[in-house]
Amino acid sequence: MNGKIAVVTGGGSGIGAGICLELARIGAQVIVSDINGEAALEVAKEIENNGFKAEARTLDVTNASDIKELGDYIKEKYGLIDYWVNSAGISKIIPFFEHTEELWDNTLNINLKGQFLCCKVAIEQMLEKGKGSIINLSSQSGKVGTSSYQAYCSSKFGVIGLTQSLAAEFGPKGIRVNSIAPGVIYTPMWDEQKKDYAKKRNLNPDEVMDYFKAKIPLRKLGTVEDVAKLVKFLLSDDATYITGQTINLNGGDIMF
Ligand SMILES: NC(=O)c1ccc[n+]([C@@H]2O[C@H](COP(=O)([O-])OP(=O)(O)OC[C@H]3O[C@@H](n4cnc5c(N)ncnc54)[C@H](O)[C@@H]3O)[C@@H](O)[C@H]2O)c1
Repeated sequence: MNGKIAVVTGGGSGIGAGICLELARIGAQVIVSDINGEAALEVAKEIENNGFKAEARTLDVTNASDIKELGDYIKEKYGLIDYWVNSAGISKIIPFFEHTEELWDNTLNINLKGQFLCCKVAIEQMLEKGKGSIINLSSQSGKVGTSSYQAYCSSKFGVIGLTQSLAAEFGPKGIRVNSIAPGVIYTPMWDEQKKDYAKKRNLNPDEVMDYFKAKIPLRKLGTVEDVAKLVKFLLSDDATYITGQTINLNGGDIMF
């Protein structure tokens, strides 16, 4: 990916950070963007300390004008964007009748509308370039609904629809759009929500990860590196005949 320009949203933590590290390691100029600017800066510093190329930018994916501004900044400084990865997201496990409108709006705005807004800026530049590749983070919860997870599941099902619709429209222009549906990947997101999951299943928070492992055919959780390797493949020219797909990455937990 030498010389390629790659933008990652939510790059300050977890899966997004892992993707930034991997893409930089194989030569991309990575723009680490996150609403948490300090976290993005830490990731960019780590990449640069390893001798690779990264720049941190604060970005809220719900803010259309900021996304446009970031796109213009990148084009001016580095050139047209080659790859865009939408990893920014939030997740709340909470019973349906405790889902407030605010939680619904926040979740749909960040997880789904944010990807829609970012794809606009990315695709505009990719059309100018005549090619490009986008990855949208969906989830296993974008394929199967589970209890106490209505806002999150709705947003992640939506990501799959957005991905397919964009792939259909822009395939003829050389732009590929794919999605990844990870199962359980242990990141700071799970530090936050382990106790809520425990409540839902009547478990002790310390039992949650073992509970998952026991039901996954490969008997282990996924890692950030597992996701980053798949993103690397899907973005690359090794995957030029793959578009509009949502790839499961879940140790066999679901198989459709
Ligand atoms: N961890 C898992 O098990 C898992 C499974 C399936 C899908 N996913 C998806 O993968 C993506 C990354 O998850 P993660 O586990 O790395 O979570 P994480 O909480 O570690 O990281 C999410 C990042 O998104 C950023 N973010 C939140 N709101 C934002 C906004 N408005 N604008 C820009 N950035 C914002 C946060 O600051 C954070 O750095 C999410 O879309 C998540 O839904 C995660």
